[in-house]
Amino acid sequence: SDAELDSRITEAKRKLGSQLLILGHFYQRDEIVAHADYIGDSFQLAKNATEHPEARYIVFCGVHFMAETADILSNPEQSVTLPNLSAGCSMADMANIDQVEDCWKQLMDACPDNADDDVRAPIIPITYMNSSAALKAFCGRHGGIVCTSSNARAVLEWAFERGRRVLFFPDQHLGRNTGMQMGIPPERMRLWNPRRPMGGSTADAYANARMILWKGFCSVHQRFTVEQIERARQAYPGVKVIVHPECSMEVVQAADGTGSTAYIVREIEEAPSGSAIAVGTEINLVNRLAAEHPDKTIFCLDPVVCPCSTMYRIHPAYLAWALESIVEGDIVNRITVDPRTAADARVALERMLEVRP
Ligand code: 13P
Ligand code: SF4
Repeated sequence: SDAELDSRITEAKRKLGSQLLILGHFYQRDEIVAHADYIGDSFQLAKNATEHPEARYIVFCGVHFMAETADILSNPEQSVTLPNLSAGCSMADMANIDQVEDCWKQLMDACPDNADDDVRAPIIPITYMNSSAALKAFCGRHGGIVCTSSNARAVLEWAFERGRRVLFFPDQHLGRNTGMQMGIPPERMRLWNPRRPMGGSTADAYANARMILWKGFCSVHQRFTVEQIERARQAYPGVKVIVHPECSMEVVQAADGTGSTAYIVREIEEAPSGSAIAVGTEINLVNRLAAEHPDKTIFCLDPVVCPCSTMYRIHPAYLAWALESIVEGDIVNRITVDPRTAADARVALERMLEVRP
């Protein structure tokens, strides 16, 4: 039963004490959030993983790329467990290292040499946190960097100081939305479709681009539409609409604000009592925020519901099993990144951690 699982988790936590650190993403189920030492967006959780050297066991309630990042940033004596190994991210799976290496080679061939007075690199690669360790390592090796939805603009500014173009993967929407905020016109952005390299365009089209955007997306955030925003505004005059930047450009432009999950949480916490807020992000988070703020009208833009099915795979039964195994001396579902990949990925992650948003 739910109560039994809850007490098993509580008991295992008690036995492990400060040796255990449970990190949970905002999209996790309420029963998981209740047991997390920290809940946060992917940037905050990556930082939390670096701040607890006393914890021998980090249990990451989130998706695979987040656990990999925690393993890269934590110290070698610490282990990272993902309670259910099938908790992946479909967007992260939309770019693999072979495709990125191939894209890089074609773009480098297409982009002309720098003018003599321009010391910037032809292209800087930026990977969204939602990517495999191999892609982060690629960025580490090629003068690039990692970003999350909470620091994408500062990271892009960092990249444009060092390079004339940016290759942004895997989420086209976060890349496009951030570029638009910085005043880069859409005609200077070009999509890269890994199934149709160069996409029928001439090499010149890529050479003239400022941003080359990988054709990846989040299936949860891609569901939100401008029509949903219009309906929300009709139903609740004065409603504030806030959306995650993984939504399409049209949705972000029709909204009143956009930002990471931490931004969404902050906006709702700080909104005055009585306000109405329509949210374009994952449903577990929106429902929890609505329950925590009964004095405000908080609802998801998508009436049909849009859960992140992989985040949802961290069921309390998996968490109980993972913790009890650790108590018995067996670290199950351990996520380890090989040392060479981890060293290169750490370079790109540490560049990100040094950038001030
Ligand atoms: P945040 O970093 O904003 O939490 O986003 C992670 C994510 O996967 C959103 O879909
Ligand atoms: Fe990946 Fe989308 Fe789920 Fe975020 S919401 S973890 S981007 S599938």
